[in-house]
Amino acid sequence: MEELQAIDWYGQRADDCADTELKAVLIHNKDDEMEHAAMLIEWLRRNVPEFATQLTKFLGVDGSIA
Ligand SMILES: [Fe+2]
Repeated sequence: MEELQAIDWYGQRADDCADTELKAVLIHNKDDEMEHAAMLIEWLRRNVPEFATQLTKFLGVDGSIA
């Protein structure tokens, strides 16, 4: 949850940032948080069978998510 919140916060800050260089840093940091989130989701997939079931059901499938 904290990684997902960090993605959102960095994104909001980058959206409101007028300084081009700082905006690039914030976007870089946002992308790093996506890496962290993905690593933790993979840990959940490997260690929580119910989570793995839901990931298999929804990730990489075509069509409506709902
Ligand atoms: Fe992080």
